[in-house]
Amino acid sequence: MSTPSSMKAIVVEKLGGPEVLQVQPNHPIPTPTEGQLLIKNRICGINYIDTYFRTGLYPSPKPEILGREAAGTVAAVGPGPNPHNFQVGDRVAWLATGGYAEYTAVPAGKTVKIPEGISDEDVMGSFLSGLTVLTLAKETYAVQKGDWVLLHAAAGGAGFLMTQILKSIGAHVIGTAGGPEKVALVKSLGADHVIDYRSEEEKDWVKKVKEITGGRGVDVVYDSVGKDTWEGSLEAVKRKGTIVWFGNASGPVPPLPLNKLSPKCVKVARPTLFGYIETREEFEFYVNELFTLLKSGQLKVKIHQIYPLDQVAQAHTDLEGRKSTGKLLLKA
Ligand SMILES: NC(=O)c1ccc[n+]([C@@H]2O[C@H](COP(=O)([O-])OP(=O)(O)OC[C@H]3O[C@@H](n4cnc5c(N)ncnc54)[C@H](OP(=O)(O)O)[C@@H]3O)[C@@H](O)[C@H]2O)c1
Repeated sequence: MSTPSSMKAIVVEKLGGPEVLQVQPNHPIPTPTEGQLLIKNRICGINYIDTYFRTGLYPSPKPEILGREAAGTVAAVGPGPNPHNFQVGDRVAWLATGGYAEYTAVPAGKTVKIPEGISDEDVMGSFLSGLTVLTLAKETYAVQKGDWVLLHAAAGGAGFLMTQILKSIGAHVIGTAGGPEKVALVKSLGADHVIDYRSEEEKDWVKKVKEITGGRGVDVVYDSVGKDTWEGSLEAVKRKGTIVWFGNASGPVPPLPLNKLSPKCVKVARPTLFGYIETREEFEFYVNELFTLLKSGQLKVKIHQIYPLDQVAQAHTDLEGRKSTGKLLLKA
């Protein structure tokens, strides 16, 4: 099938709320250059990072097509060497930019073939988020069996997968989540304790964590909420513990005076997925691990909703309004 010359794409021309996500029905389809593939996207993942680029919390040139990942088929292979042997028609998933569109030109080095037996939906429900949590649990802090772990936003896209990974390692998991439905969901994944940090009874979640751990605190905190939780995370971590700040759902952690870490000899990390999968070898290592977990059924995926491309503003509203559990997807 030949590729048309224009496509539907969601273009952000200026910073702002979900309303700046504008549908362009006749956007030019990019031409893949050397080292690139043109992908006909089928399903694109929505990630919290997309909102940071939309609002300007993370700078990026505008106009911009958001979307860091999609699954689809190879529509064209760019000129030059093709070391990973991609062919037109291959079913693939990619990590790059420009996913809120029918077609995207992406680096072949950040594209992988999807094995038989794994659906596009399961891959997109766990690709960027799942690769992230695998790197967080293996490299940022190597979680050990028996560790006490505090995981914020445990019912979210990343949190839903991280809870499962932590339990599979044998950690004791204390999750936080907003509201009884989210709490029940995280409990169903095997979390040992789940705190409803938005409820009147449990809003002092630090006290609760201290009670659960006999006053000791947790070995590691995974905090992607940021502004609203960072101080509590510092209190809830044990002496010689680690805090991994990996997101800003409520806003960024403010500049932190290092001497705040001294009393308990706390270690902190501020990782990003893309820093862990820079080389093809690193990327394939984590992708293979993820696909193995998906294929064996050891990792369950939860899709909140698949939105049509032109309802992306609603999807952002739902994500930022804390209305979702698991992953939000777009149908290209
Ligand atoms: N560093 C990396 O490489 C990397 C990669 C992937 C994701 N992340 C980060 O991981 C986090 C989760 O990403 P995601 O895409 O999976 O999103 P998500 O967890 O599905 O959604 C964010 C969740 O954060 C919680 N939250 C707490 N305070 C909030 C507030 N003021 N506004 C909105 N939400 C709030 C909400 O859960 P409750 O209602 O339960 O509080 C909400 O559902 C984000 O911070 C993201 O930036 C980082």
